[in-house]
Amino acid sequence: MSAAIKHYLQFADFTAEEYAYLFARAALIKRKFKAYEKHHSLSDRTLAMVFEKASTRTRVSFEAGMYQLGGSVVNLTSGDSQLGRSEPIEDTARVISRMVDIVMIRTFEQARIDLFAQHSRVPVINGLTNEYHPCQILADLFTYIEHRGPIQGKTVAWIGDGNNMANTWAQAAALLGFTLRVSTPRGYEVDSQLAALNGAPGKGWQSFADPREACAGADLVTTDVWTSMGYEAENEARRQAFADWCVDAAMMAAAKPDALFMHCLPAHRGEEVTAEVIDGPQSVVWDEAENRMHVQKALLEYLLLGRLA
Ligand code: CP
Ligand code: NVA
Repeated sequence: MSAAIKHYLQFADFTAEEYAYLFARAALIKRKFKAYEKHHSLSDRTLAMVFEKASTRTRVSFEAGMYQLGGSVVNLTSGDSQLGRSEPIEDTARVISRMVDIVMIRTFEQARIDLFAQHSRVPVINGLTNEYHPCQILADLFTYIEHRGPIQGKTVAWIGDGNNMANTWAQAAALLGFTLRVSTPRGYEVDSQLAALNGAPGKGWQSFADPREACAGADLVTTDVWTSMGYEAENEARRQAFADWCVDAAMMAAAKPDALFMHCLPAHRGEEVTAEVIDGPQSVVWDEAENRMHVQKALLEYLLLGRLA
């Protein structure tokens, strides 16, 4: 991997200072979008997207965002590319990265995106792996800041699976200086190694057996599906194990009165969250989804052009 290429493979890849820049830049980009002002910083640049798992938000936000920046997009899925017929990921990376300026991948193991990046001539963005979902946390943090101001010193409650979202929240808490309170069923805990900042000792979150306790005094309550993509065979076992990890009005009542609710979506009302909560006044899930596009436009610019005045 060339040392000069900057990738975004996990949340730990950027510093707190880089995040501060990205949030400010995303706010500017969003303002211009809302005012129908042209912002063609990436004209003549091409983004390739590689999807080895399904997507609605990631696909639309990257594709619409790249066009709004004046660039163009190529979309590949495993089903309609040679990836589905066992072409090695390294060869795919070598070929694609000779033709486009930047690549976004959604795939299975983190090792697969790491391997792609090692053989890529251009920046690679993680659009979700089994282990991490950094673009989503970028959007979630931006959404929190938009609604409530700085997240430093605040408390976030993660309720449910110790999955890619939870690992990424844990990295963000350690990096940006907020408290993460996690409650998962036994057997579905956050993996301390994945949740750590590269090699950092200690864990950046607190664990609670009772989800209501994890929500106590929280500024933000957040959750995700009980069964992530790629784990469908465990569906029934998870349905039983997670029955008490449904974010409901009682959990929200344990949090601060002005606490926000977030969910990366897609959501299953009646499983990880009640309809009352996700469709209620504390929920900001639609802003959260929209903000994927604004923060990712800032991210694409940053990886390709660096800091802009
Ligand atoms: N939140 C998220 O990444 O959604 P999609 O799976 O629809 O892309
Ligand atoms: N944890 C979920 C997030 C979906 C956007 C999954 O990996 O399926």
